Amino acid sequence: MPVPFMDLSRTPPSTERLVRDAVLRVLDHKQFILGTEVTAFEALASRELEGASALGVSSGTDALLLGLMALRVPAGAEVLTTPFSFFATAGVVRRIGARPVFVDIELDHFGMDLAAVSSLPRSRFAAAIPVHLFGHALDLDPLVRWAEDSVPIMEDAAQAIGARDVHGRLAGLQGRLGTWSFFPTKNLGALGDAGLVATRDEELAARMKQLRAHGQSSQYRHEEIGGNFRIDALQAAALTSTWPLLAEQNRQRRLNAAYYERRLGDLARRDDRFVLPKISAGHTVHQYVVRVGGGRRDQVQAGLREMGIGSMVYYPIPFHLQPCFKDLGYREGDFPRAEQAAAEVLALPIFPGLRPEEQDQVAAGIEKLLA
Ligand SMILES: Cc1ncc(COP(=O)(O)O)c(C=O)c1O
Repeated sequence: MPVPFMDLSRTPPSTERLVRDAVLRVLDHKQFILGTEVTAFEALASRELEGASALGVSSGTDALLLGLMALRVPAGAEVLTTPFSFFATAGVVRRIGARPVFVDIELDHFGMDLAAVSSLPRSRFAAAIPVHLFGHALDLDPLVRWAEDSVPIMEDAAQAIGARDVHGRLAGLQGRLGTWSFFPTKNLGALGDAGLVATRDEELAARMKQLRAHGQSSQYRHEEIGGNFRIDALQAAALTSTWPLLAEQNRQRRLNAAYYERRLGDLARRDDRFVLPKISAGHTVHQYVVRVGGGRRDQVQAGLREMGIGSMVYYPIPFHLQPCFKDLGYREGDFPRAEQAAAEVLALPIFPGLRPEEQDQVAAGIEKLLA
């Protein structure tokens, strides 16, 4: 039997009913833009995020863009970030005319190497964007210490909703603001595109709220130039209905990860170029990403595909080697660990509806291919 990498059709019927009720409610009252659904969603988001001000937005990408606009990062400014993430993290920096400056990553959690950041002159940077990748919440203390009050930190927590760092702190709340994505395949997924920004800085929250609706302070009066970054009421309603189920979904993901750990741990101990992810207590396992070194990753992925087993490569090209960032002047070899990650990472099926026999098939497939 084929094993899907992800299958949204396995959403439990009880969850499906909650979502359908939410959608029908919006169809009944027809308040499609902002209004009660968005207000309720933002109140829930704020409660889930320890009282931070939360604002629903149109996507995780727009959350990042809105954040940079609200921080008033000027064109030409430098923004410190990782070379290894989903494209949006660096794309938004370029879109406002600023320049992403990359530091290499560490290979334990694929996050920015925060030890390397301490040697960089703080005064160069208008902002920093660390990314909590795959559901692992980075301990940002070294970055916060380095940034002091002069470099605002925007945490890209698109993949890390509910994730906690080694100190038990929620991803997205250590810097000036955090951003999240509700892309349908995320741990908390919408019925399309949706995102969130949150901050404990009330002034910044007010600015983002204004920028979310074209910088409008009152009807048709524009203080500054924003955009249409609103979350749809439909998405807000759906997310309000499913957010209470997130903790259980994350628990399922962690159980699935524990299974792989049990099944593949021995293999990883025998083969030091096959590396399992380190799943710490607060990890939400958005993706279960192994590393297959020794030039074997593509071969293993092809082998799995032949067995009908889905897997994904997040992400095959680090930012500094993307054609669209050529003008930044980086070259191959500039960030060796990001390049190594791009060559070795392989995400295995981990979604909550995955069945034990399917996980067994995935593990057996990996064992066979790496034997
Ligand atoms: C790390 C990261 N940043 C930003 C985004 C952008 O989010 P969205 O797809 O909702 O625009 C994503 C999601 O795909 C992501 O994984």
